[in-house]
Parts: sequence; structure tokens; C-alpha cells
Amino acid sequence: AEKGLWGGRFASGPAEAMAALSKSTHFDWRLARHDLAGSRAHARVLHRAGLLDDDLLRQLLAGIDALDADVASGAFTAAPDDEDVHSALERGLVERLGPDVGGRLRAGRSRNDQIATLLRMYLREHARTIAELVLDVVDALVAQAAAHPDAAMPGRTHLQHAQPVLLAHHLLAHAWPLLRDVQRLRDWDARAAVSPYGSGALAGSSLGLDPAAVAAELGFERSVENSIDGTASRDVAAEFAFVAAMIGVDLSRVSEEVIVWVTKEFSFATLHDSWSTGSSIMPQKKNPDVAELARGKAGRLIGDLTGLLATLKGLPLAYNRDLQEDKEPVFDAVDTLEVLLPAVAGMLATLTFDTQRMAALAPQGFALATDIAEWLVRRGVPFRDAHAVAGACVRRCEQRSSAEGRPVELWDLSEEDLVGISAHLTPEVRSVLSVEGSLASRDGVGGTAPARVAEQSAAVREAVAEH
Ligand code: ARG
Repeated sequence: AEKGLWGGRFASGPAEAMAALSKSTHFDWRLARHDLAGSRAHARVLHRAGLLDDDLLRQLLAGIDALDADVASGAFTAAPDDEDVHSALERGLVERLGPDVGGRLRAGRSRNDQIATLLRMYLREHARTIAELVLDVVDALVAQAAAHPDAAMPGRTHLQHAQPVLLAHHLLAHAWPLLRDVQRLRDWDARAAVSPYGSGALAGSSLGLDPAAVAAELGFERSVENSIDGTASRDVAAEFAFVAAMIGVDLSRVSEEVIVWVTKEFSFATLHDSWSTGSSIMPQKKNPDVAELARGKAGRLIGDLTGLLATLKGLPLAYNRDLQEDKEPVFDAVDTLEVLLPAVAGMLATLTFDTQRMAALAPQGFALATDIAEWLVRRGVPFRDAHAVAGACVRRCEQRSSAEGRPVELWDLSEEDLVGISAHLTPEVRSVLSVEGSLASRDGVGGTAPARVAEQSAAVREAVAEH
């Protein structure tokens, strides 16, 4: 192997296994064009500091542009001897301009400040793409909510029937966390918009360079305050990995519900043929693979985050080679989300709901018991007593169910049943024993009443439009 970037003090090149371990071009090559953008900015500050004359600057910029075109077309790629993207591109520049010109760019920068900068550039770009893709999932949820403004479903806690809710309310409950994920990406960007370029290996540069100019040219807000922090910290990468994992978890939760909804037992929803898969042996099968992959990939995204945190834990300042392991987890998170989000959006947008079945099940399992208690409270009964009375109604239903061998629901209770439980239970209580009545009564802010959910839909649309 050739002696590469540091040959001067070495009598031999790296051993084969050493080079194989060291190599990162197979994953850092995706930063090549960011590296070249950094080189352009760096050439300009070297020029402004009086370290390159006009002619050298012109030659360097032309060489970088030519190399950039070759990288874009695939004519220039990493060679087997190249250790990383930075050394490969320097080789490319030297090949094009000769060592006297191509070799000048390394002054005042290090791969340590380069890689820290390029990683931020790459992640900031992809954070914007991912935010757009998350908003597409939100759009799918909002469209489904809008298409079913009055449909009721069983609202659950502990997966048990709790109280009826609107399907639209439930779908929007998945939209809000995703909107917060988009906000998280925006908030994260404020911390990522700081450039480490100019930090050098760790201590900064003696060459009178202007890191702020490089930062501005590369789209950053400013440059780092501390060159050691600039080269050694990776909290920006870890925070990105957290937001990616959170998005994965949020997608996984809605996906888990889809998986349950499309079972024979639930039969709440049906997947579109284009967003489901069959079985090679069982001809009848229609499987929710998109949702299952979302659930599975959430685990992978959590692994990307925890793997990166484990790499960082205990690292002394400043740069350590362990930090080369920062890239694959966040690249994997980017790749995973960019392939997953469009599929989840498509699956959700094309789901069809059996709203009749959902509405029929909504009041079952004594889901209107709270409505009896609240009706009693409106008539002056203390909630403690009201709760006990409504509970006794449920108990009476269960007694009758087992005696009569058929399900007896709250609305099946006779006048005798009701007065036998409490004198407060006049026949008017039946007025609240309907799903429509129950839904309409929950009209406080954030509640499931149709008018409130319509307002909520509008609020989500507005939040999407603001982004
Ligand atoms: N490829 C390295 C990384 O990804 C950057 C090079 C720094 N290497 C070094 N020996 N200081 O972190």
C-alpha cells in the first residue's frame, strides 16, 4: 500500500489487515460532494489569508470542479488503497493538478474538522427530506380523518373497550406526535447549523484562516466556539439518531394498530392490494408487511441510536478513531426512514375502514358506563356515588348475561333493573346511552365531539401548512 497522507515518518505502509480495518470509503463516499464543497470554501479562505495567489486559487477551484464532475458521473471513485473519502479526493486532486498545486489544500485543515463538518452538512440536508416525508404521513392521516368525519370506533385503554371515540380523533392522535417529530428536526437544525471547519485536528489553525467564511459558504449559521468541541463532539449526530428513532417508534405505533385492525377478529380495516403482500403457499393471505416492517425497523433505528451512544460513552477528548463509527448508524437511520416513510404514507392513505362494524362495536363492552356516571353528576349526584351506581349497572348486565345466555348491554336494562340499582336512575338516563350522544357530549377542548375534532383537523392542516 502507498504511504498516503502521513508517509513522512513511516518506514513502511500499513499492513493489509490494518488498512482493511481502517478503511471507510465504502460508507463515507456518500460525503464526497460535501467534501468537495468544503474544499472550495477552504481554498477561498487560504487565498484570502494570502496563502494562495490568484492563479493557484483558480487552478484549485477548476481542479475541484473537474473532480466534482467526475465524482458525480462515477468516473472518479475510491481506489482500493484509499483510506477514506478525504484521502481519496486529495489523491484525485493531486492526480489532476500535480502535487505542487493539489497538495496545497491540506494546509490548515484536518480530516478531523472536515469529517465533523461534512457529517453535519449531510444530516442537515437529509433532515429536510425526512421532515417532508413525515409530513406526507401526516397528510395521509389528515385525509383519512377528513374522509370519515362522523365515524365512531371503540376507544381503548389497556386494549379494552373504554369510551367511544371518533375514528378521525384517533387518526389525528397519530398525527400530532409526527408533527412534533418534524418540529424536533427543525429544533435540532439550530444546533446542527454550526460548522467545525477551521478547528483543525483539535487546536485550531495558526494560518489566519476565517472559519466564519467557510461556515457561511457551506450554509451554516456560524462556526464552533471551541475547536476541541468542534472535532470531538457528536451529540449532534446522536440527537439526530434520537429523532430518527422517535419517528420510527411513532410509525411503529400506528403500524401496530393497522396490523390489529386488519385481522379477521377486528376487521376494522382492509389494506389496499398495492400496499400488502401475499403468501407463496397460502393463496388466501393478505399480509400487512408495510406495517410489520415499520415495527421491525423501529427496532433497527433504536439500535442505531444506542450503538452510537455506546460508541461515544467514555471517549476522552479530543478526536479518537472510534468516532469513525459515528457514520454508519446515522446513515442507516437516514436510509431506513427515506425508504420507510413513503411506504407507510401509502399504506395509510389507501386503507379502507369498515365504519359500520367499528360503530357497532363502539358502545359494546359497557363503553357507555362513564356516560351514566356523568349523567348522574349533572343531576347533582356526587361522582363517587355515580361511579358506584354505573358500576352496579354493569354488574347487573353481567348477571343477566350469564343467566340469560346472551349478551346484555347497558341499554338493555329494564326500568326495574335501573330503579332497583338507584332511585336516581330514571328512564331519561337512556338518552345518554347512545354513541352519538356520548361523542357529542365530550365537547371540551381536545375532546372527541365531532365539532371539536373538525377544529382539530383544521389545526393539524394549519400546522402542516406552516412547515
Ligand atoms: N475517516 C475518519 C473518520 O471518519 C476521519 C479521519 C480522521 N482520522 C484520523 N486518523 N485522525 O472519523
